[in-house]
Amino acid sequence: MYILGVWDGHDAGAALIEDGEVVFAANEERFTRRKLEVKFPVNSIAAALSHANLKPSDIEDVSFTTTEFTKTLSRVFPAIKENYYQFRRRKMLKPRVWDIKHNHWLKYTMTSIGIVPGSTAVSRAQVSRELRHMGFGNFKLDVVEHHTAHAASAAFTSGMKRALVVTLDGVGDGLCGSISTLENGKLERRQAIRSRDSVGIFYEQVTNILGMREQEDEGKVMAMACYSYPFQYEENKFRDFFKVEGTQLSAKYSWLKQYDVLSRISWQMPREQFAYMAQQTLEYTLGKLISNAMDRYNMHDVVLAGGIFANVKANMVIRNLEQLKHWYVFPHMGDGGIALGSALYTSYRKTGKSDYGFSAYLGDGYSTDETAELIRGDRSLAVQKETPMENASHAAELIDKGNYLMWFQGRMEYGPRALGDRSILARSDDEDVKEKLNIHVKKREWFQPFCPSMLESEAGSILEYDSKGVDKFMTMAYRVRHGKRDLTRSVMHIDGTARPQMVGEENRPYQELLKGVKKRTGAGVVLNTSFNLHGFPIVRTPQDAIDVMKSTKTKYMFINGLFITNRAGV
Ligand SMILES: [Fe+2]
Repeated sequence: MYILGVWDGHDAGAALIEDGEVVFAANEERFTRRKLEVKFPVNSIAAALSHANLKPSDIEDVSFTTTEFTKTLSRVFPAIKENYYQFRRRKMLKPRVWDIKHNHWLKYTMTSIGIVPGSTAVSRAQVSRELRHMGFGNFKLDVVEHHTAHAASAAFTSGMKRALVVTLDGVGDGLCGSISTLENGKLERRQAIRSRDSVGIFYEQVTNILGMREQEDEGKVMAMACYSYPFQYEENKFRDFFKVEGTQLSAKYSWLKQYDVLSRISWQMPREQFAYMAQQTLEYTLGKLISNAMDRYNMHDVVLAGGIFANVKANMVIRNLEQLKHWYVFPHMGDGGIALGSALYTSYRKTGKSDYGFSAYLGDGYSTDETAELIRGDRSLAVQKETPMENASHAAELIDKGNYLMWFQGRMEYGPRALGDRSILARSDDEDVKEKLNIHVKKREWFQPFCPSMLESEAGSILEYDSKGVDKFMTMAYRVRHGKRDLTRSVMHIDGTARPQMVGEENRPYQELLKGVKKRTGAGVVLNTSFNLHGFPIVRTPQDAIDVMKSTKTKYMFINGLFITNRAGV
């Protein structure tokens, strides 16, 4: 039995479940090379089918999510979606006549409308039409509500039997969050949080006012906040923006009014401080809400999904809550993960199965021969075949000597992070190589930190790690132990925290590389950043990888059993 999950909004994508097992998931951006793609995910769907050797007519169950008014409108008129995409990503010049109030009124009024009579039927018809264009025949189309899809993604992949399930994002289907419980295999919603009270929209607005792109640069706001001098919550000008009473969250202002107040406050202060206040407000509000929810439902294991939980510093506050015993954040927490969330929920509805496990390596992979064929005759590249073990120790040697290198192995990661299959790696204690990597390849803003991958067995010695959850997916911040701060110089933020990936048996080639690094340097830790060109999605195919290698003049790449040296590399 196959269930195909489809998401055709912000960071569109597809996922495939076969006989109760997730076999493929990917996002459209990796195919179209447009970050956070919004178009109908024809390429991801085709890749999912081809992975399982299926024709569209073989699929009997399709699941999709979100039928609110604006989403439905954009399904009928895709030009709306495309224009907003170009505008939001600042791919167009700022319009000469830009009446900000008018546009915000339009945006905020429209997106706060949830599901209205007829919107689900129209959405259903549009999605069916798109699928029939692709050759789909007789399929049942299941609609899953937005926050239910988020909740399912976290609950059913967490491996937990009994947990509190919290979802929080900007807005989806008229809500900005939900609180559910997972117990005896049953996912039950206990509470919904209406869109007006969205902490996600608050953070989006802060991002926008700071001159960054909303729904994309929120992580930069979090990083920038660390550069402010700290101050007490009582002095925070946003402290009364949100109220948490029990498990009720309420916002003081409407979205429009809030934007206005935030803009006026931002006038008064440096942007680091503005970011700090927003981050502090988010952490305080989330901490209180989740703490109260744990008490109310008497559950101390918490699983989380929704774009807000991309904020690893807020996640750290949640992890440190006294009552909390275990945590899990769904690795593809934003809307990019709801194709899978939706498919999981449909599968649960049909079969009752509520435990699916999770591997991040759900995208496409390529053989050594395919890769070798691609570069045959290319005189600018020198190629050498190596066994996986040779690959790992050779890469470790180059890293130890102060080089950065590209590491492309196995199946592409699902989610925003590169987790050792499409990564660029370097020493974790070398500021020079970090600078070089930044200038030639990553071009990150000065306040954005890089992150480490480390052997799972070393997490306790490097981090103030409390084993409330093994972090395989870079979803949590930890304090670095004082004695280890030299070792993590190039992967630690200015406040002494890091967002690590803890590597174990789930990725053997990468684990071997880290073991090789440990043999040479004494510590199994490296700098791991995503394999992409600045502003573009992570590479998907060997051809993408070679293009990035050449355009950035990167010298070394390990790809599917080949060691490639770029003769023009620097
Ligand atoms: Fe969402």
